[in-house]
Amino acid sequence: MRTAICPGSFDPITLGHLNIIRRAAKIFDKVVVCVMLNSSKTSPMFTAEERVEMVKKVVARFPNVAVETAGGLLAEHAKVYENPTIIKGLRAASDFEYEFQMDIINKKINPQLETMYLTSNEKYTFLSSSAVREMAKYGVDLRDFVPCEIIDDVKKRSEMYFK
Ligand code: PNS
Repeated sequence: MRTAICPGSFDPITLGHLNIIRRAAKIFDKVVVCVMLNSSKTSPMFTAEERVEMVKKVVARFPNVAVETAGGLLAEHAKVYENPTIIKGLRAASDFEYEFQMDIINKKINPQLETMYLTSNEKYTFLSSSAVREMAKYGVDLRDFVPCEIIDDVKKRSEMYFK
């Protein structure tokens, strides 16, 4: 069985993330969306539990996609799966530079681990969770940016968070 791991902070999950997960689910037998707990980013908008719940709502439609959390290093965590492949989305050349460095570090920690990249759909090359948080703060309509299942969660939290 070929397993893909889609790691990220998902604070919150965006339509760009969902596009990558959906495409990975067509290629691999199983996709595990891994919400990383100790991402270097501080002050998340959503707790890890909330991020997991939102991702679960969004991927419920895909029978071969599961959601989990992991602390520590992704390359260590990946050892629980047999020959997994990490899947990352690439929006621009700047993403590649960062991801290339991560790939080398991950391979030093876990030499068996391969990372594959899916280029972002052109509709989402500009999109990031931080852009969503910023737009939510100013009351922008989020329908083109986050999955419909979580729009209310993001709206409610940004009203609380930024009032
Ligand atoms: O959604 P993001 O913030 O772009 O995701 C980044 C993430 C969480 C995938 C990355 O920071 C990560 O893999 N963090 C886990 C810690 C780790 O393994 N770091 C790489 C070695 S230094």
